[in-house]
Amino acid sequence: MTPIKTLWIVGCGNMAGAMLARWVAAGTLDAPEIFVLNRRDRDLPAGVRQGRVLPDGPLPDAVMLGVKPQQLEDVAEQIAGRLAGVPLLISILAGVEEAALSARFDAQAYLRAMPNMPVAIGKGVVALHTDTTDAAMRERAAALMTPMGLVEWVDAARFDAVTALAGSGPAFLYRFIDALAQAGAALDIPAEQAQRMALAMVEGATLSAATASEPPGALADRVASPGGSTRAGLNVLDDGRALQSLLTDTLAASFRRNRELAAAARE
Ligand SMILES: NC(=O)c1ccc[n+]([C@@H]2O[C@H](COP(=O)([O-])OP(=O)(O)OC[C@H]3O[C@@H](n4cnc5c(N)ncnc54)[C@H](OP(=O)(O)O)[C@@H]3O)[C@@H](O)[C@H]2O)c1
Repeated sequence: MTPIKTLWIVGCGNMAGAMLARWVAAGTLDAPEIFVLNRRDRDLPAGVRQGRVLPDGPLPDAVMLGVKPQQLEDVAEQIAGRLAGVPLLISILAGVEEAALSARFDAQAYLRAMPNMPVAIGKGVVALHTDTTDAAMRERAAALMTPMGLVEWVDAARFDAVTALAGSGPAFLYRFIDALAQAGAALDIPAEQAQRMALAMVEGATLSAATASEPPGALADRVASPGGSTRAGLNVLDDGRALQSLLTDTLAASFRRNRELAAAARE
């Protein structure tokens, strides 16, 4: 397999910036082989080129769109002509389907990638989908994403759902950690200490669950002995499936919004 070696990134904010940092740190891509098209100079990894117009010369192996979904139309008008024939167009735009990309760009293959912020440290999740049947291209695309963390191919129909779960998931977990720390502070633990403990607890519990032989749901019950204090707390989360229904509603809202963004990108 010939790896992807040259990449242009169009719009490099929080998410694309995290991916860029990981590619350079992991040595997946050489910094001088990357060009970032942005609207103003940014603090990028040393050696990465940036500018307001795409470079002259041959097209790169791949181009990645890192703008907001609402910015797709403007970007397409600006650069689609210059990108005609590019081997791979990668999009991390939530809710934007391959058909919306192929209606605006003329690439040999399209890849939807849904990363999350922990890709910056190689502990992210990246969901991938492509309609291309070119096996070598699929392999090249997956190899590019491997340093980011867990890479999962998903059906196009499930993309909005995995976006809600894994793409937006870190924000939901951060809210949970903050709420946990605030709940600790309400029990008179100093606020900063409660936050440190909540973060370390989530890290340790997650790492040990990842290597446990039982699924997390069973682990929760194993930790909570009948009549004990953990069980008393779990009873609150479990009452009327309170936590389950809150998270079901949370993902459903995020999923619906992805669908709305997809509909807007189709227009
Ligand atoms: N954040 C996440 O956790 C996450 C997770 C998964 C997927 N995503 C997807 O990632 C994409 C970006 O999200 P984000 O959170 O990284 O947003 P962001 O920080 O606002 O990044 C978007 C970047 O695009 C730039 N941009 C906008 N129009 C441009 C143009 N015409 N030419 C060049 N650059 C342009 C913006 O520059 P300015 O600063 O000049 O406006 C900004 O740097 C979204 O489509 C989102 O769906 C995000």
